Amino acid sequence: MPSDPEAPALVEMRDITIRFPGVLALDAVDFVLRAGEIHSLMGENGAGKSTLIKALTGVYPIDSGSITVAGEARVFGSTADAQSAGISTVYQEVNLCANLSVGENVMLGHEPRARGGIDWKGVHRDAARHLDSLGLRIDTRSILSSHSIAIQQLVAISRAMVLDAKVLILDEPTSSLDRGEVEQLFAVIRDLRDAGVAVLFVSHFLDQVYEISDRITVLRNGQLVGEYLIGDLPRGDLVTKMIGRELDELAAISRAADRTIDRSAAPVLRATGIGRRGLLEPTDLDVYEGEVVGLAGLLGSGRTELVRLLYGADRADSGTVEVGGTPVRMSSPRHAIAERIAYSSEDRRAEGLIADLTVAENIVMGIQAQRGWMRRVGRAEREAIVSEYMTALGIRPADPDQLVRNLSGGNQQKVLLARWLATAPELLVLDEPTRGIDIGAKADIQRKVAELSEQGLSVIFISSELEEVLRLAQRVVVMRDRRRIGELESHTVDLDGLIDYIANAGEGSAA
Ligand SMILES: Nc1ncnc2c1ncn2[C@@H]1O[C@H](COP(=O)(O)OP(=O)(O)OP(=O)(O)O)[C@@H](O)[C@H]1O
Ligand SMILES: [Mg+2]
Repeated sequence: MPSDPEAPALVEMRDITIRFPGVLALDAVDFVLRAGEIHSLMGENGAGKSTLIKALTGVYPIDSGSITVAGEARVFGSTADAQSAGISTVYQEVNLCANLSVGENVMLGHEPRARGGIDWKGVHRDAARHLDSLGLRIDTRSILSSHSIAIQQLVAISRAMVLDAKVLILDEPTSSLDRGEVEQLFAVIRDLRDAGVAVLFVSHFLDQVYEISDRITVLRNGQLVGEYLIGDLPRGDLVTKMIGRELDELAAISRAADRTIDRSAAPVLRATGIGRRGLLEPTDLDVYEGEVVGLAGLLGSGRTELVRLLYGADRADSGTVEVGGTPVRMSSPRHAIAERIAYSSEDRRAEGLIADLTVAENIVMGIQAQRGWMRRVGRAEREAIVSEYMTALGIRPADPDQLVRNLSGGNQQKVLLARWLATAPELLVLDEPTRGIDIGAKADIQRKVAELSEQGLSVIFISSELEEVLRLAQRVVVMRDRRRIGELESHTVDLDGLIDYIANAGEGSAA
């Protein structure tokens, strides 16, 4: 049921301005959210989407402007304030208590009580009911952090439902969900909309935006470009409005996947039977010089587990690894770095960036680790490297001394990538490098990977966006249920073929 274009405004933001040192993050922006609609907020990395949400929810005070909720002028002092007015937010990075149980997280602050204390049985019963309405059957007594990011995200959404939200804000909730999980989430969002909830959705996946939205508001450089009904804004126009120019996304990347790879010399990396009980069945993987090998599979299929064993981030209990034909011991990331292998993790917060250091410090950190802490990177060299990669990846604001915590989500992801590119590795392992990255920057990153691999860099590329895997990788290794089920030359398969292979190959046959 599409929303009623004349529905009254539930949230009205007028003339909102927020200034950070050196950045005008929002410049007199108007935004209206109506009951019973799904409204997408679109814009490049750093356009001001998350800041607008934080202005609404009381995370950032506004410098000027006004906010009206259900006809009443409101200024929220904190997210708790906003929550009690019925505005719940699920952020781009899960923001729950990792060491508490799932049930406690869902019910936190709303626990049923019995005889003066918390009724723990009731907590888990109620939590299970809320999770169940999302189609999630998980043990509510399990610890939140023991679950994948995807599950944690759905737990966060269940929590918002417990708070009985009138406004549900989802800031990139789908960036770590697989197709099935996205469908599940969308079904829930549509139900909530049909029940009259106003849903604000932010995502860099255009397919999803077009699938779910009733309306779109576009921001660019902190300014409002416009508000549109979905049917009035063809995709190409949306992209043009977001980036302020036309983008020929596909033409930007030479058909990297069609390049012929010389596999006569020893592979840069050869893993034989590498595995670990309970984590990954013994798996073989070769990567040749200048080759991009894609790892495809559903969430939890073993892609990240495989590269973590290769990198020594987890210990393998079977198998061997050879680098350039020589057996190596890969029992810690230190060994991998010494072998010129770099690993850009999918979890930029837990394993990657240090929020309280500057952009420059975060970029140089990889080179520094490679050289050892006794040999400092000199100032001139440091400046040259930092400026090269900030330009190549379009990191904004273009200020190397900005703290990483102040960058938008997509720009943080670019800093992490810059760190590993700067180490000039022979083999680069990229785990979801374009998650949360806008469509223009995604093309920049793909182009950079294609260019470096053409010059001889070998790459293992993990991405949930199969289009991207097929465009960059010459060979795709498919994983399922923590084992390798086969591999394909990219030029022999199209997107539907790959999806079908991931779902069905090997089922009931000996493939
Ligand atoms: N606390 C802060 N201090 C300084 N600058 C900030 C702060 N928070 C955001 N900014 C800046 O404000 C601008 C808008 O950032 P915002 O996070 O709103 O972007 P976004 O549209 O959500 O981008 P993305 O798609 O990458 O998540 C960026 O230039 C960012 O660097
Ligand atoms: Mg953001």
